[in-house]
Amino acid sequence: MLLEEHATSENKYILPALEERAPGSSAHDEADHEALEQLQGNLLAQLEQLLDPGIPDQQARRLGYEFYQGLTQLHAAHLEHMFEEETATQALMWQHFNDEEMLQIHGQIIRSIPPEVMLAWMKYILPAQTPEERRQLLAGMQANAPAPFFRQVLGVAEKVLEYPAYAQLEAVFKTVEVSS
Ligand SMILES: [Fe+2]
Repeated sequence: MLLEEHATSENKYILPALEERAPGSSAHDEADHEALEQLQGNLLAQLEQLLDPGIPDQQARRLGYEFYQGLTQLHAAHLEHMFEEETATQALMWQHFNDEEMLQIHGQIIRSIPPEVMLAWMKYILPAQTPEERRQLLAGMQANAPAPFFRQVLGVAEKVLEYPAYAQLEAVFKTVEVSS
């Protein structure tokens, strides 16, 4: 679900904007997204076969091994793709957009993500951020998202962060949580 959301958001909000200012610059990432989607689709089809209760043992072992290899390939391909995006694509964004424009695109992406998908993202994003990045992200959500949803996000933060990191957030956001 998260991998699909990644490609959909970029294909819809980032790559067309980049293509408009730097023609030809989005082709590589778009091709990557298609290749990754195909790898993931193949794996999901294999998984469905594997989960079939009637599958013969020998076939299950063979398919299981192929699935494991495919999963490794998908993982490696995603890391390579992310590296490309965080170096080449990011550099192009800095070259062709100012901070305000990038924040606008960021806002479009955030608003387009359904709440349940955003909560799933938070599980992985919050522990990976610096304290200041986390504070900024949560402040933005607090200002723009409904209070019950923001409380759910804080609930995820409490589960996934080590206590000192969560305590820092609690100190900043607790007063607002109580008053909302
Ligand atoms: Fe991507």
